[in-house]
Amino acid sequence: MDLFEYQARDLFESYGVPVLAGIVADTPEEARAAAEKIGGTVVVKAQVKAGGRGKAGGVKVVHNPEDAATAAEAILKLTIKGLPVNRVMIAAGARIAQEFYFSVLLDRANRSYLSLCSVEGGMEIEELAVERPEALARVEVIPGEGIDLEKAREIAKAGHFPDDLIEKVAPVIVKLYDVYKGEDATLVEVNPLVLTEDGQVLALDGKVSLDENADFRHPAHAELEDAAAADPLEAKAKALNLNYVKLDGQVGIIGNGAGLVMSTLDVVSYAGEKHGGVRPANFLDIGGGASAEVMANGLDVILGDPQVKSVFVNVFGGITACDAVANGIVGALKTLGDTASKPLVVRLDGNKVEEGRRILSDANHPLVSLATTMDEGADKAAELASK
Ligand SMILES: Nc1ncnc2c1ncn2[C@@H]1O[C@H](COP(=O)(O)OP(=O)(O)O)[C@@H](O)[C@H]1O
Ligand SMILES: [Mg+2]
Repeated sequence: MDLFEYQARDLFESYGVPVLAGIVADTPEEARAAAEKIGGTVVVKAQVKAGGRGKAGGVKVVHNPEDAATAAEAILKLTIKGLPVNRVMIAAGARIAQEFYFSVLLDRANRSYLSLCSVEGGMEIEELAVERPEALARVEVIPGEGIDLEKAREIAKAGHFPDDLIEKVAPVIVKLYDVYKGEDATLVEVNPLVLTEDGQVLALDGKVSLDENADFRHPAHAELEDAAAADPLEAKAKALNLNYVKLDGQVGIIGNGAGLVMSTLDVVSYAGEKHGGVRPANFLDIGGGASAEVMANGLDVILGDPQVKSVFVNVFGGITACDAVANGIVGALKTLGDTASKPLVVRLDGNKVEEGRRILSDANHPLVSLATTMDEGADKAAELASK
């Protein structure tokens, strides 16, 4: 889960990372009040989960509450990288002497953590990374060791900070790592980290991604979720503990195992080309235990998508054998009753496939048809969806 800048700012503050005052506002009037409260020069900043807000006109420096309201009004009308701006943050204005870059992130490829750091920060960091990669230091952070003051100095030095600045920046880097570790983040990025004219180091922008697999350790993270942006079907699936991702197509997909579901999406896309370009409507992996309850939950979510015209259930029986899956489907259709109103194509294979098919044939449900192969099932489901 990615956080908004203001949420990152609040987290930083709670860990003792130096930040400036920041107050969120949803209307120009609230922006005016916030600017009054903070006083002096403030910066009105679009709160969207995308970088490059400055370049898109989403960051404006103003010198009085009236101008803050005007700037907020304009910024609240913007769409930045496809994301509507629903909220701004009014931040105290910093007198910037120098801008730096620092981040620490999960390095999946190397099964480690990686820190990126440069004395040349600010808005052009992506270009810097491409044009002068040597200016952007990449320092591995050993997960078991983390970043202490000594390591922080090493990182700053690699990022070409001069000695006097290293001493100022290193303690802030340690605190940013505390945020990363303490919150189970996969990314903590500060661009810019700045030196002010009066010699303070401050985090002026913050990008934080939290690892949802660690949510159980952080009950407070639930409140950081952006309920307004969540897809209602995805929210429902999450509440039911299903691995579901909504897509744009018409063929609902249920499978067991992420790999099988991914291939099913491919095969359905391919088959769909022959049937007027129908496409998969979702990714749904019901995992190993394809019980009637899990199947009913999965079907319930998929059938709740008004775009769905047909459903393709593609299950490979393993530890949960095909007979159990077939019973799951029959049970799910019973549970759902009239809610289940769209045709289902079922392809079973693997452990106890004969028993599974027999159970479905005997049930003889008017919405269910059987397919023997994945290609055949995908073709049938795509054809049904195109009608
Ligand atoms: N509180 C602030 N005071 C002064 N300048 C700021 C402040 N916040 C941002 N800026 C300036 O605006 C630029 C862009 O803001 P930033 O928060 O980094 O947004 P983005 O990365 O989305 O463009 C920064 O590089 C900095 O120069
Ligand atoms: Mg930035």
